[in-house]
Amino acid sequence: MPRALVTGAAQGLGSEIARRLGALGYEVVVHGRDAARTEVALAAAPGAVAGVTGRLDSLASTRLLADDARGRGPYDVIVHNAALGPDQDRPILTEDGLERIVQVNVVAPYLLCALLSMPRRMVIIGSDSAAQGEPRVDLSPPDPWNGRQAYANSKLLATMLAFELAARHTDRPVNVVHPGWLRTRMGGPQAALPISDGADTPVWMLTSDEAVPRRGGQYVHKRHAEPAPPAAHDLALRAALVERLAQVSGEHLH
Ligand SMILES: NC(=O)c1ccc[n+]([C@@H]2O[C@H](COP(=O)([O-])OP(=O)(O)OC[C@H]3O[C@@H](n4cnc5c(N)ncnc54)[C@H](OP(=O)(O)O)[C@@H]3O)[C@@H](O)[C@H]2O)c1
Repeated sequence: MPRALVTGAAQGLGSEIARRLGALGYEVVVHGRDAARTEVALAAAPGAVAGVTGRLDSLASTRLLADDARGRGPYDVIVHNAALGPDQDRPILTEDGLERIVQVNVVAPYLLCALLSMPRRMVIIGSDSAAQGEPRVDLSPPDPWNGRQAYANSKLLATMLAFELAARHTDRPVNVVHPGWLRTRMGGPQAALPISDGADTPVWMLTSDEAVPRRGGQYVHKRHAEPAPPAAHDLALRAALVERLAQVSGEHLH
């Protein structure tokens, strides 16, 4: 049976993606930030075969998570879903000296990508806010602080990372799916779309034999590739980002 890894699977979009992959016959490994959240993720996804635990706002904890996840792999598909939203009224530095939003949303998926073998397909969950992002490839926070801008920047950088991975692994499609405004904890109760809407495209991208999911390096919404933010195609900016990520994490990308 094919095997899947889904980060941030204790609630929201990640939980729904894990549940759907399980229903499609995948052996799903779900991730939670701590043991209690991993238990919640396991209980929410009937197809889950194992849980892995780790905080994404700590390089040490993310490394332990990667070790654990490697032991339960290899994976046919990986979904980098976990993220922090924009509701943060000031910059928060992690134990690694990075701003927390960029560490969780960009550095942690980079480190997991560097430490795990490449799956057959990968989806990084993006956001249409990336269009307003500034490509701060040095990972510095907006100055003056603005949580929405920090989130938009992080989603732009995550998109650039996905496009870089896609260019390096043309036989293993890596794509960004931006799900739209979803009724989750992050999206809030007023959001336009139910979680089921958001889960449809990532699962399709990971499992379908149709043309779009078999390609990499796309910015996908509702099963259609849309124009990506220009920085995603900027090779020099991507190289600078990957160099900085290698510097802060101590690991190089495959
Ligand atoms: N909701 C929207 O409108 C919307 C729009 C565009 C894009 N997105 C993207 O969709 C994805 C899923 O978001 P969502 O709406 O489902 O949000 P959510 O309900 O807040 O879920 C976020 C997930 O990330 C996990 N997470 C956050 N910080 C973490 C950390 N430091 N260590 C480990 N795990 C951490 C959370 O764990 P806990 O449950 O333990 O907190 C949770 O499982 C994200 O990438 C988000 O940026 C969402």
